[in-house]
Amino acid sequence: MTSAYADPPPVTVRVPAKVNLELNVGPVRADGYHSLSTIYQAVAIYDDVTVAIADDWGVAVTGPLAAGVPADETNLALRAARLLGTHVGSAEPVHVTIRKNIPVAGGMAGGSADAAAALVACDALWDAGFEREELIDLAAELGSDVPFLILGGTAMGSGRGEQMASALARGTFHWVFALSDEGLSTPAVYAECDRLRARAGVAVPEPRPTPELMSALRAGDARALAATLRNDLQEAAISLRPALGEILAAGLDEGALGGVVSGSGPTVAFLVATPEAGIDLAVALTASGMTADVRRASGPTHGAHIIPTRVD
Ligand code: C5P
Repeated sequence: MTSAYADPPPVTVRVPAKVNLELNVGPVRADGYHSLSTIYQAVAIYDDVTVAIADDWGVAVTGPLAAGVPADETNLALRAARLLGTHVGSAEPVHVTIRKNIPVAGGMAGGSADAAAALVACDALWDAGFEREELIDLAAELGSDVPFLILGGTAMGSGRGEQMASALARGTFHWVFALSDEGLSTPAVYAECDRLRARAGVAVPEPRPTPELMSALRAGDARALAATLRNDLQEAAISLRPALGEILAAGLDEGALGGVVSGSGPTVAFLVATPEAGIDLAVALTASGMTADVRRASGPTHGAHIIPTRVD
């Protein structure tokens, strides 16, 4: 018989990866971050994060891409759980299990996604009853991308990327992602962007969303969207990892409508017209031997949401 005092059952939250359809990087702010104008889209590559009441705080990482994710106090999902805990009177410690499927340090918000999932999961586990807006505010303390992974869909990010406004998008877009073996450090890519800009001596304007991109999204027009994909960090990512330029060229040669480095890279995202075109491109990229792995996914998809906990 279940006791009235038994621990609540574990909670699992599924959270998507993201791609930046555009990432406009503005000047460095007084706090050291860059002001951004970005359009995020959630894509159907997911991590599952399970939280369970435990004697002590802890984290474990499982799944195909577990290697490279810290399973210690620096883990962003564990930090998210602890952060929410400080806002909950007498929160019991939790153990966080991450089933990792989103590329690590790939520019697809893998770590940020897990943090977003942990916030949503712990809120449910502790029955804390936070409003989504409150969780989004806490998410911003953990990282610039974390609020978007709670929201999902397609959204505009401003500030340092954490201020959200939904963007109108019609239909489904089909993506092919070319992954690299080794991640790129986000701060290193921003620093390289600064270095290249200083060398070129160009003035950096305040970033703004591109009207053509917004109207392509509203129309659900993949071809028009492909023409507007853009990332101010792309040159820096290619400067640090020249092979990315070759992968981009290869994907476009093989029939992608458009291609762009995702976030701070090194993942390269290609937009294709149909799922079938995605299969063809994935086969061609795999055969080229230029990429460590290739994944297909559609977007937009939902942000962090509770799913049944798997027993295995
Ligand atoms: O916010 P988050 O922790 O994800 O950012 C990681 C790093 O990326 C920051 O420490 C900073 O170096 C860089 N960054 C930036 N401007 C932004 C977002 C991130 O310079 N708007």
